[in-house]
Amino acid sequence: CGIVGITGNENATSILVNGLQKLEYRGYDSTGIYVNDQNGKDYLVKRTGSISNLKAAITDEVHGSTGIGHTRWATHGGVTVENAHPQFSQDNRFYLVHNGVIENFEDLKTKYLSDFHFVSQTDTEVAVQLIDYFVVNKGMDTKAAFLKMISLMQGSYGFMLMDREQPDTLFVAKNKSPLLVGVGKDCNVVCSDSLAMLDVTHDFLELKDGEVVTVKPDSVTIEDQDGNVVNRDTFHVDTDASETEKGVYPYYMLKEIDEQPNVMRKLSAKYLDENGAPLFDKKLLEAMKQADRLYIIGAGTSYHAGLVGKNLFEKLVNVPTEVHVASEFAYNQPIISDNPFFIFLSQSGETADSREVLVNVNQKDFPSLTITNVENSTLSREATFTLLLEAGPEISVASTKAYTAQIAVEAILAKGLGEFKEIEVAKNFDIKQQLGLVATGMQSIVDEKATIDDLSKKYFVDAEKSFYIGRGTDYFVSLEASLKLKEISYIQAEGFASGELKHGTIALIEDGTPVIGIITQANTASLTRSNLQETMSRGAKKITIVSDDLARNDDDIIIPTVDELLAPLLSVIPAQLLAYYTSLNKGLDVDKPRNLAKSVTVE
Ligand code: G6P
Repeated sequence: CGIVGITGNENATSILVNGLQKLEYRGYDSTGIYVNDQNGKDYLVKRTGSISNLKAAITDEVHGSTGIGHTRWATHGGVTVENAHPQFSQDNRFYLVHNGVIENFEDLKTKYLSDFHFVSQTDTEVAVQLIDYFVVNKGMDTKAAFLKMISLMQGSYGFMLMDREQPDTLFVAKNKSPLLVGVGKDCNVVCSDSLAMLDVTHDFLELKDGEVVTVKPDSVTIEDQDGNVVNRDTFHVDTDASETEKGVYPYYMLKEIDEQPNVMRKLSAKYLDENGAPLFDKKLLEAMKQADRLYIIGAGTSYHAGLVGKNLFEKLVNVPTEVHVASEFAYNQPIISDNPFFIFLSQSGETADSREVLVNVNQKDFPSLTITNVENSTLSREATFTLLLEAGPEISVASTKAYTAQIAVEAILAKGLGEFKEIEVAKNFDIKQQLGLVATGMQSIVDEKATIDDLSKKYFVDAEKSFYIGRGTDYFVSLEASLKLKEISYIQAEGFASGELKHGTIALIEDGTPVIGIITQANTASLTRSNLQETMSRGAKKITIVSDDLARNDDDIIIPTVDELLAPLLSVIPAQLLAYYTSLNKGLDVDKPRNLAKSVTVE
């Protein structure tokens, strides 16, 4: 979910709504704002669906100088106006927005509020009614009641509270969920991502778990768990607000696909010198060199980028590398080697599943690196080292440029570390030249969009299911390619190891089922072709994405040849475009697919 708040600005309503629009990627089931004009008037507007529904419901009358807003990704309780935030107390005095999950909310209900009639099914309503209960029944002041409520909570949360009787004040606290305070001119803001408030300020304060913050128009007071005031410097966010606009593009996804050649060039310029030698902090290379095993942790698309990374680290650094889905690793750890090194891949740097692993890794004092697109994000702050993706803000829920940027950074790092360890293969790997070829190759694929649009119309718009198959890294790309398709076109798509298909899943192939083979690895090309034949004999419609040097006359999408280690950077591009066009041709909202959120800050 996304949270925004502001105090001290007469345009609170529009700033909150604009902020929510920037945070929509965090969830878009329902939205709401509460604003107070400090003269006894206040307004609560909530709607299901996207921000445009909320905007339509906000009349000119809805104004104020302090307010809070929320965009929801439903956890407890369905998508209804009652369940949208802000949640409020029964006497309409307290308004609360919340990101996270309160695990013990049923127990708290039974213990403190057994006679109470709840309006919503949310865990959040329990929190706001509890505050009211402590103020009205126990005579506490608002801050004490807020603190008391927090002390009872188990789970993850980012909370922001308003009290009608102190209408210029925002009470804020967090545990595991991201929240920042932004320091503006004559006003202050709160948000779960700095992107939301870049129109107001670029200077932000990091908040730590367990701290309680009181935000007024002219002051921000941070207190630790024992009530001591904490002084902290702001950090500056460089991102230009215009980078978050989609310009002439109909959807962010298409813009972000098109940006990939440039991202490759930027990464090459940032991490390699003019002779192609990697430029990394020696301490990072030393720490990684000590490792007897690398553990790559990620979720969703980032996990898939990790799979490609495994190949890069094993081939160029000669170090065993394991890749794990964060939510699994957190609670089912494998046996860890004597000297592990952890690499966290995360576009947002905020994914709760990955963070849970990092907390554990830090408790054990294992060294770690976060590779992320967001400077100062939680995973970046809490890992030993950080490398940035330099991809610019990625807004579309389906990740594209972050995936290829993650693979490129892994490749440069593997080259750098391999060389540092004097591994011959790494020394001979001309990464600068290869990334140049990748950038040009990507450009040639994105310039041929119409071909992929045609394929989408011909075979996918009416398909109910489809398969991507490949071997080795082509299999890893198949997983990502099929995820793209299912995320935004809602076609059931599976990525499969092409040799494994015949051991069961081939039963699903019917007349006309599209099966896409990815073929970029010479040693398995003919095997994957045989596996494609097996599906065609059972009625499948075959489509191929093939590297130029392995191509035949009847292939469909031919991509430029680059070093096999980097082929995923090119083979994924047609798959991204195919997903894009299929979603578009089906008339769906490409950037905001149903049920999903871009940054998932609950476990
Ligand atoms: C969400 C998004 C995915 C993303 C995953 C991990 O589920 O919908 O697109 O891959 O989170 O996000 P991260 O920010 O950690 O890369």
